[in-house]
Amino acid sequence: METLNSSPTRPAPLHPGLPMLGNTLSFLRDPLAILNTLQKRYDRIVHLRIGGRHQYLVLQPDDARHVIQENHRNYVRSPAFNVLKIFLGNGLLTSDGDFWRRQRRLAQPAFHRQRLAALAQTMVDETADWIDDLRQLNHSQPLNASQALMDVTMRIVCKTLFGSDVIGKLDGLSMALDTLQFQANQRMLSPIRFPMRWPTPAHQRFRRAGELVDSFIYGVINQRRNDHTDQRDDLLAMLQGTEDEDTGERMSDQQLRDECVTIFAAGHETTAVSMAWTLHLLTEHPAVLARLQAEAKTVLGDKRTPPPDAFRALPYAMQVVQESLRLYPPAWIMSRLAIADDPIGPHTIPAGSTALVSPYLLHRDPASWPDPERFDPERFAPNTSGTLPSRHSYAYLPFGGGPRLCIGNQFALMEMQILLAMLVRTFSIFPVPNQRINPHPLITLRPKNPICVYLK
Ligand code: HEM
Repeated sequence: METLNSSPTRPAPLHPGLPMLGNTLSFLRDPLAILNTLQKRYDRIVHLRIGGRHQYLVLQPDDARHVIQENHRNYVRSPAFNVLKIFLGNGLLTSDGDFWRRQRRLAQPAFHRQRLAALAQTMVDETADWIDDLRQLNHSQPLNASQALMDVTMRIVCKTLFGSDVIGKLDGLSMALDTLQFQANQRMLSPIRFPMRWPTPAHQRFRRAGELVDSFIYGVINQRRNDHTDQRDDLLAMLQGTEDEDTGERMSDQQLRDECVTIFAAGHETTAVSMAWTLHLLTEHPAVLARLQAEAKTVLGDKRTPPPDAFRALPYAMQVVQESLRLYPPAWIMSRLAIADDPIGPHTIPAGSTALVSPYLLHRDPASWPDPERFDPERFAPNTSGTLPSRHSYAYLPFGGGPRLCIGNQFALMEMQILLAMLVRTFSIFPVPNQRINPHPLITLRPKNPICVYLK
């Protein structure tokens, strides 16, 4: 157990645990059940001991806002992110301080609303191909929706990043990226980590996949740099073309590589997992599915690839997506390392400890969400005056908040709306009887077993 370099004046209550191990085992066994208990038992902040570290979970939306937004300068990425660096390098997700600020400034324009409109066409085209493939399947067999959605979100993120340069190489590249992500996740969750230079089979697979990814990305960057006639509107072109307003500098090749891999990692599994939860919820709520289908059919008509603009007029699809992200936020917990003591209300988060903010917990707080376990897209319906029901802005944070708000939030919402509306326009979705679906919070909040559905 580390020693804290200052003692809080008013300690937050310590949740009882085992000698030495603290709360590690119960957190590993069933973190969501623990979150539930903590929410009921404590008021503002609770002190946990997990993995040999002192961790302080904040329970109120106001305090979440304090940590992630108001006093964000007191916090940096927690040590958990170091493992991800072997895969992501120094990209937006893993970097901090001035370096992160500069990268964020350079990357932000690529995610501007107008830029996303150009990417929407790619999303619609890829989704239409995916639906064609789904039509060919034998529908008397259940579809592994979790896997099918991983495949399509992978294609979408690769195509939006690299445009036509990825054609013919998509399968190899996406498999290599997937291998990198899988191995990094395994390493993050494993209690024993051998040095990466040891030639274990897993490390060799990781190295080979890394070489393939790097040679592809660096090859595309070089080719585009030498070809000035080349006009692209994919994410890589945006990242490569943006100059720092103050210094006129652009991203180095290494930074471009790190940001591309980061966008891939942050953007593909989160969206796939969230879409799989959405389909599961729809199989349990046929009336919501029917209303969603009616909206999609009316607005999109039957053109194979509806114009991207049409997707703006799908308010109910957006409500369904938002409510699904409330119940199953893929980023179910966020952690930060405190630089200095941070007094919050009656307690203090001590320097050197970890602050935890859990969207899962805040999204199920009965003080903000009456009957929180119920799936009800009406929670996000505008009221009669056209405004959204008033609630604390940090009672709902599937995409985080403050300066480190998910840069891809609009990208993800647009992608989910397109996938959902085009899918339900074509198919009805039915549950597979006796399927047990339980959440399994690893790095993202996945279902324990793949979600399977019948399509008709
Ligand atoms: C449903 C889908 C998604 C969810 C729930 C999600 C959630 C989040 C959350 C909660 C954070 C903040 C983490 C923290 O503060 O510790 C984050 C950061 C990030 N996300 Fe997303 N994300 C999603 C999709 C995407 C997509 C599609 C992209 C890119 C195309 C993306 C790129 C990023 C990046 C680069 C960061 C780091 C931003 C920074 O620190 O400056 N995400 N995401």
